[in-house]
Amino acid sequence: MTTDRASAAANDRPRVFSGIQPTSGSFHLGNYLGAVRQWVDMQDTHDTFYCVVDQHAITVEQDPAQLRENTRVSAAQLLGAGLDPERCTLFVQSHAPEHAQLAWVMNCITGFGEAARMTQFKDKSAKQGNDHTSVGLFTYPDLMVADILLYQADEVPVGEDQRQHLELSRTLAERFNHRYGQTFTVPTAFIPKATAKIYDLQDPGVKMSKSASSPKGIVNLLDDAKTSAKKFKSAVTDTETVIRYDEEGKPGVSNLLRIHSAMSGQTVEQLEAHFEGKMYGALKTELAELFVEWVTPFQRRTNEFLDDPAALDKVLAQGAEKARAVAGPTLAAAYERIGFLASRH
Ligand code: TYM
Repeated sequence: MTTDRASAAANDRPRVFSGIQPTSGSFHLGNYLGAVRQWVDMQDTHDTFYCVVDQHAITVEQDPAQLRENTRVSAAQLLGAGLDPERCTLFVQSHAPEHAQLAWVMNCITGFGEAARMTQFKDKSAKQGNDHTSVGLFTYPDLMVADILLYQADEVPVGEDQRQHLELSRTLAERFNHRYGQTFTVPTAFIPKATAKIYDLQDPGVKMSKSASSPKGIVNLLDDAKTSAKKFKSAVTDTETVIRYDEEGKPGVSNLLRIHSAMSGQTVEQLEAHFEGKMYGALKTELAELFVEWVTPFQRRTNEFLDDPAALDKVLAQGAEKARAVAGPTLAAAYERIGFLASRH
């Protein structure tokens, strides 16, 4: 009954969809501040669908046992961060076959050149070389478009690195609607500026990313908290001694101030005043403490979900059922508009 009422209320709210890849044993702080934190907040104001995108993960080679494990750990972290299956739909992408089905349709309305211009693809394929780059990586953005359009999402909370893919979602929704008649909601990216791009602690010129050259600059949420505290304390800053926000001149300090602000709720101006006359060490120590205070209960909750795999699988099964109840009719409508003969079996 609670679920019925919750979903009836949720239906008046704008729809949200977002996804995260299970490609590592832990999310990092960029994932959390750039995306997952917004997912948690939006449960109260939006009708929310969140997905662990295992099909995106296999665009690069994955060890099967590791992928299964990472998928569970990802779902547990999302619950540990505050997703509540009573207030959101949390599921695994491969459990809803509609995603791959609509992705094929999206592939067929995307230009080859259009896909080849996606910067994430260009960067990754340049690094890996053509012979080591899968066709799946090339069509990755179209699977993402399908994820979003299947749920008629109004808003998509993501970090800055996904902006171009969101633009493609808008383009393809409009293209499909124009060719075949109104079918899909045209989604909007939700990218809060302050946390859109969290930078590497050792190299504040690049975003924090699991593919970074050194682990020292990445804060993994499931790492031992003391290890992460050390990473904050040895973050790269600059040779000045003033704690001031200046993205261009002081990228390291500005990154730390932004992280502090996101975690403490204080504005950057308040923090500049608070740290006036203090050394960088004070900012780093306070930030490390803030992080440890947040991450300790996060890890405890995540581990509780991991300790009960049957309960976790049940949450994901129920999530998939709720997701497919929305995705199925959207796919059917798209198939019908395209001219596929209705299947009667
Ligand atoms: P993924 O798994 O790489 O990252 C998950 C989310 O974390 C954000 N993010 C960051 N935000 C701020 N600073 C950073 N350093 C940082 N690093 C990562 C990402 O922007 C993302 O929001 N393609 C997506 C997954 C996806 C998806 C979707 C997202 C698949 N289908 C549909 C939205 C809607 C990805 O690889 O995210």
